[in-house]
Amino acid sequence: MEPLRSLILAAARNNAVRDLVASAPGTRALVERFVAGADTASAIEAGRGLVDAGLSVTMDYLGEDTTDAALAEQSVQAYLEMLDALRVTGIAGQAEVSVKLSALGQRFDESLALALAERICARAQRCGTTVTFDMEDHRTTDSTLRIVGALRREWPWVGAVLQAYLYRTAADCAALAGPESRVRLCKGAYAEPADVAYPDPHEVDLSYVRCANILLAGDGYAMFGTHDPRLVRIITERARWYDRKPGSYEFQMLYGMRPQEQLRLAGEGEKVRVYLPYGRQWYGYLMRRLAERPANLSFFLRSVVSR
Ligand code: FDA
Repeated sequence: MEPLRSLILAAARNNAVRDLVASAPGTRALVERFVAGADTASAIEAGRGLVDAGLSVTMDYLGEDTTDAALAEQSVQAYLEMLDALRVTGIAGQAEVSVKLSALGQRFDESLALALAERICARAQRCGTTVTFDMEDHRTTDSTLRIVGALRREWPWVGAVLQAYLYRTAADCAALAGPESRVRLCKGAYAEPADVAYPDPHEVDLSYVRCANILLAGDGYAMFGTHDPRLVRIITERARWYDRKPGSYEFQMLYGMRPQEQLRLAGEGEKVRVYLPYGRQWYGYLMRRLAERPANLSFFLRSVVSR
C-alpha cells in the first residue's frame, strides 16, 4: 500500500487526529460534498434528484465498528425508516440500501449481526428493494461471507462486496458468480498487510480485471464500484465480449465523486448506481475518501493551514 494512504488510514484511528479533523474549517465542505445530509429526509431528497437524473442509488446509513447492542439497534431502526421511505416515495425500484455489518455488532456478536441483518432484509423484501452488505477490513471477510451466505438462503438477492486488493478475491468471485447472486467488486479501502493484500496499486488493478472477468463470465449480477476511467473502459469492453447487456451488470460510484462521469455513462445506456452515505457518523468514511485521493486531501490540508 502507498505510504501516504497507509499513513492517513493509520492516523484515522488516532483521537487527536479525529478532533483536528472534526474542528478543521474545511471539514464541513468536504462532508457536504461526500455525505448527503444527516437524516433520512435529506438522503431521500438527494436520492430522488439522482433518480430523476436517470441514476440508481444505494443508501448507506453511516456507522461502523459498533461495540454496543443499543447502537446496533439504532442502525437497524434507521435502515427500516429508510426502506419505508423508499417505498412511500416510490423510488424503491431504483434505490436499495448498503449496510456495514460492523454497525450491527459483528465485531462482538456475529449472531446478533445476523439477526439484525435478517430484519433489514425482511423489510427490504416487503418494500420491493434489495440490500448489499459492504465489506470491511480482512479480519471480517469470512464472517461477512458467512452472514451473507446465511441471508441468501432466504433472500437470494442479498448482495456482497468483494475487494480486488485481497489475494483471496478471485476465488471468492468464482464461488459467488452463480445464478441470482449480486456482487459488487471494488478495489478495497482499508489498510491491509502484505500477507493478505497486494501492496502495489498496479497489482490491485490487474486483480480487479481478473475478478471482473470471472463475474462477467458467471451467471450473477455484477456491480462494478470504481471511479477509475481505465477500469470503466476495460469493463465496458469486457461486458460486450461476454455479451452482457447493460442492465445485466452495473457501474457504481460514490456520491460526490465524478458526478459528470456518472451522467455520461448513464447517457450511454449503462446502468449507474450512486452510493449515497447519510447520517452523522461520517468520520471513518471521510478518512477513507481522503486516503484514496490526493486532490481531496490537499483541499482539506489547505483549509487546516489557513485557519
Ligand atoms: P482509485 O481511487 O484507485 O483511482 C484510480 C484513478 O481514477 C485515479 O488515478 C484517477 O485517475 C481516477 N479518479 C478517481 N477518483 C476520481 C475523481 N473523483 N475525479 C477524477 N478522477 C478520479 N471499499 C471497501 O473496502 N468496501 C466496500 O464495501 C466498498 N464499497 C464501495 C462502493 C462503491 C459504490 C464504490 C465506488 C467504492 C466502494 N469502496 C469500498 C471503495 C473502493 O474500495 C475504493 O477504495 C474506491 O472506490 C477508490 O478506488 P477506485 O477504483 O475508485 O479508483
